[in-house]
Amino acid sequence: MHRQPVGSINDSGHLVIGGCDTVELTKQFGTPLIVLDEAVIRESCRLYREAFRKHYPQGQVVYAGKAFLCTAMCRLVEQEGLFLDVVSGGELYTAMKAEFSPEKIFFHGNNKTQEELEAAIQYGVGRIVVDNPYELRLLEPLTKKKKKPIIIHFRVTPGVEAHTHHSIQTGQSDSKFGFSLLDDTLFKEIRNVIRFPRLKLTGLHCHIGSQIFDQKAYQKSIEVMLRLIKNIKVKTGAVVQELNFGGGLGVRYTQDDAPPSIEEHIEIVTKTVRRESTALGLPMPILYDEPGRSIVARAGVTLYTIGSIKEIPKIRKYVSVDGGMSDNPRVALYDAKYESVLANRFKESQTEKVTIAGKCCESGDILQKDVMLPKVKSGDILALFSTGAYHYAMASNYNRLPRPAVVLCKEGKAEVIIRRETYDDLIARDVVPDHLNHKVRIRSR
Ligand code: LLP
Repeated sequence: MHRQPVGSINDSGHLVIGGCDTVELTKQFGTPLIVLDEAVIRESCRLYREAFRKHYPQGQVVYAGKAFLCTAMCRLVEQEGLFLDVVSGGELYTAMKAEFSPEKIFFHGNNKTQEELEAAIQYGVGRIVVDNPYELRLLEPLTKKKKKPIIIHFRVTPGVEAHTHHSIQTGQSDSKFGFSLLDDTLFKEIRNVIRFPRLKLTGLHCHIGSQIFDQKAYQKSIEVMLRLIKNIKVKTGAVVQELNFGGGLGVRYTQDDAPPSIEEHIEIVTKTVRRESTALGLPMPILYDEPGRSIVARAGVTLYTIGSIKEIPKIRKYVSVDGGMSDNPRVALYDAKYESVLANRFKESQTEKVTIAGKCCESGDILQKDVMLPKVKSGDILALFSTGAYHYAMASNYNRLPRPAVVLCKEGKAEVIIRRETYDDLIARDVVPDHLNHKVRIRSR
């Protein structure tokens, strides 16, 4: 069962998200505007929680903050009982400012800096997911002042290829992430850690990719990881009780996407865990899943105002919006596909084929190619669906466009959770060095 895009239509024929008329939202907050439906985020969290409760009670959901993070989002996921995965000092800082319980934070990253590790230890994060030997060398001396051991997981690349866009495949052996299984570095480092009393290895982590529909890749990676846990025990004596299979469940962007439901996904994965653990004579591990996209993608809709319209006879009709690759780089990066509607004329039939262009100075700044919409006019509001994950998080100030505002809608009430950037925000970090302080003009001849 794959879930339809969010929203409904009101009597004025307007798109409604979280009980809010989106046309009214654009009047109040301007465009581009990212609208998040709070109930949909909470529902996804609940579906994960309930799926684990039903199929594998010793499981815990860890929200992958890279999909979308701000202080309000931290509060929301903590209220929903989720842990949090952070990948940088900035994400960690955001979580701490939101007073997220540090022991529920997992710290990831393939090149954590000394400062980031120091901060993670000082805050007392729950797990540091060690990616490589260099990180271990940084970590060991930092643990000296700590009374309690630092709990770590090792990230492993299981050598499994998930069928998804190559830029978001991560489980194959040729990857920058984690310990490879093609040599014995992992075992060497585990023996090292065993001798080191202030580090306590409790688990393994793998992440095979993102936007994954095919559950066979998960089954394969679980098999590899459980065999590895057994091998580690035999070769080093270390007992690994925790396994994190790293999120990655795909979502529906268009009608061509048919991902499994959250429950189907958890059922398949946890069945594999039970079967393989029993076959290998291992106790059932504590399981962690780390979804980002499937928590927040569907909840998000981006609203744009349509401006210029250019028709090239017999070739194409370009309809330009007031955002583009600056708030949605996914089309340029991954050739991502979306569905959209005119939020102010949702009921009208789709009679013309148009290409939605952004306003950045690049021909590649296209949000949708050849899509059907009602006859478009300047001033119409375009709503692009499923933009909750990896949109604001990947937004830039390219062309010095201010990043949009993000509003959270619930039962007809809209609240800003990230305010729109202003032009002053854009220049706030600019510095003019002294020697450029007077306006010297070079005379033209
Ligand atoms: N855990 C780790 C270690 C990850 O690297 C990721 C995503 C996740 C969990 C969450 O995966 P999710 O459930 O969200 O698929 N920018 C790309 C996606 C990059 C994913 C990076 N890692 C996109 O827009 O499609």
